[in-house]
Amino acid sequence: MTDDLHLHDGFRMPALGFGLYKVPPDQAEEVVVAGVDAGYRLVDGAEFYANEAEVGRALGRIDIDRSLLTVTSKFWGEDSQDRAAVLASFEATERALGTAVDIYMIHWPRPNRNQYVDVWRTLIELRDAGRIRSIGVSNFTEEHITRLIDETGVVPVVNQVELHPYLQQEGLREFHRRHGIVTQAWSPLGRGRVLEDPTVAEVAAAHGVTPAQAIVRWHLQLGNSVIPKSTNPARLRSNRDVDHFALTDDEMAAFSKLERGQRFGTSPDERQ
Ligand code: A2P
Repeated sequence: MTDDLHLHDGFRMPALGFGLYKVPPDQAEEVVVAGVDAGYRLVDGAEFYANEAEVGRALGRIDIDRSLLTVTSKFWGEDSQDRAAVLASFEATERALGTAVDIYMIHWPRPNRNQYVDVWRTLIELRDAGRIRSIGVSNFTEEHITRLIDETGVVPVVNQVELHPYLQQEGLREFHRRHGIVTQAWSPLGRGRVLEDPTVAEVAAAHGVTPAQAIVRWHLQLGNSVIPKSTNPARLRSNRDVDHFALTDDEMAAFSKLERGQRFGTSPDERQ
């Protein structure tokens, strides 16, 4: 079992979960059932993934103490980021999931609109009313988070960003460390494109594991939360089977050298 990460608000979150981005709605229910069955306790969803009702159906079917699961969702805000829009989105997510949201995040800062501090105030209000346990952000830069902290005094518990061996986000991780923010990696396998990397393959072979397992292990040893996704139950299970080996200091150093600032997804300033 991988350890839980401590959030600065006193709660905990499993370091390893699985993501639901691009999981087609007709597969989402089975993926969630297979994931929890495989031992995952962190389910990373979002309004934008358009599969929350199916995730909710799966959560309704699973026979597990709900307090053992961490369920996340994210406010999309493409049409409006006003308080009413945040509340409507949040309530739609709650209804679809049929259960409480443990961690709710702002999906994108959309900086040109300059409303993310107001969205954050609404999340704080929901948290203070006891409707969300913990609040965080996604795709925020240092500058965006600094504004949230300066203007509200409330630090996000997590910032979920694109992070994999080709985009290691070292400066942002250091900033998170200083503020007690958990770094959570989306597309942790580089959308599957880092699996072919020769260094990754060599390290994986040395431990008799798959490239995906080596990369998941690297994330965990960096202290990241990591949410690899797979629609294939066997791969979902195997991606979590990473407790029987550890990368050496030399192998961690070899991974560090893979940094090339390469994004496979959208950058924080691009999405408005
Ligand atoms: P699939 O769903 O067919 O397993 P990321 O999490 O970085 O976005 O990467 C997800 C991509 O990596 C998906 O295309 C997924 O495909 C693939 N993937 C996930 N786990 C593995 C694995 N263990 N081996 C090969 N490909 C994987």
